[in-house]
Amino acid sequence: MKRKDLLGLRDVSRDEILEILETASRFREVSKRRIKKVPTLRGRTVVTLFFENSTRTKVSFDLAAKRLSADGVHISAGTSAVKKGETLMDTARNIDAMAPDLVIMRHSCAGAPHMLARNFDFSVINAGDGINEHPTQALLDMLTMQDHLGDLEGKTVAIVGDVYHSRVARSNLYGLRTMGARVLLAGPGTMCRPEMAGPGVEVRHKIDEVLEEADVVMMLRIQRERLPRAMLPTSREYAHLYGLDSAKLARASDRVLVMHPGPINRGVELSPEVADGERSVIMEQVTNGVAVRMALLFLLLGGSDDASA
Ligand code: NCD
Repeated sequence: MKRKDLLGLRDVSRDEILEILETASRFREVSKRRIKKVPTLRGRTVVTLFFENSTRTKVSFDLAAKRLSADGVHISAGTSAVKKGETLMDTARNIDAMAPDLVIMRHSCAGAPHMLARNFDFSVINAGDGINEHPTQALLDMLTMQDHLGDLEGKTVAIVGDVYHSRVARSNLYGLRTMGARVLLAGPGTMCRPEMAGPGVEVRHKIDEVLEEADVVMMLRIQRERLPRAMLPTSREYAHLYGLDSAKLARASDRVLVMHPGPINRGVELSPEVADGERSVIMEQVTNGVAVRMALLFLLLGGSDDASA
């Protein structure tokens, strides 16, 4: 892969996506070993710079870096000098002065990782920027879909919930479009807007209208932190109209895959029996996340050719 950064899937080609997913498939084996480490990125420095909370994404990147033998350092906004009023540019200049090879960034402002990528020589991976993109999540989602469905061309993926404020949905929309999948969106009008429709993307609103045709149902959390209070429905009302429970799932194909990027609000967008049920591949998504992030660190930093040596 020839790029310096991974900021979003909007401009990533089908061949690049396939290369990332293939590399990730090869790296999966490392996490199954007793000694989960290869020397591929020995001596390379990876910094995770997080201005928003995270459990899965942070741990997943940390483990990916460690399993490739890179040196990883974590900076979280809550404990950094950002709290003392330092600007993002100054924080980045200081990190740059310590010679990192790659910075993984999460920020509440769309475009923050792009600013870093433009101004510095180190590689940047976007780990979520506001409502814009979260490319590594969409890649691990696509790897999980591919494991079960093979080629994604012509497959139907329903994305349900707060689609508009979801960077996970946006990256999936771009990636799935590139892979030739068909996307059906459903959710309340304020969270699933008609203008999101486009080539290969249909907006349907009601969950029942997307379930029957779906090979995959991706459920999303309401992004409460990104919504004005007045726009928030009550949890009960939301669960009734847009949540997925066993009764609604019965309308879908019995081979449908249920996905969720986490964190799940149990009883709101997903009932516990569906979240933990036999159609759920949510834990596979988490496992695949480590492999996808190993692949990206490897491809962006140009590790040795033998990926799993
Ligand atoms: C998502 C995020 O932060 O965008 N979580 C994740 O990275 N797996 C989704 C969310 O917060 O709802």
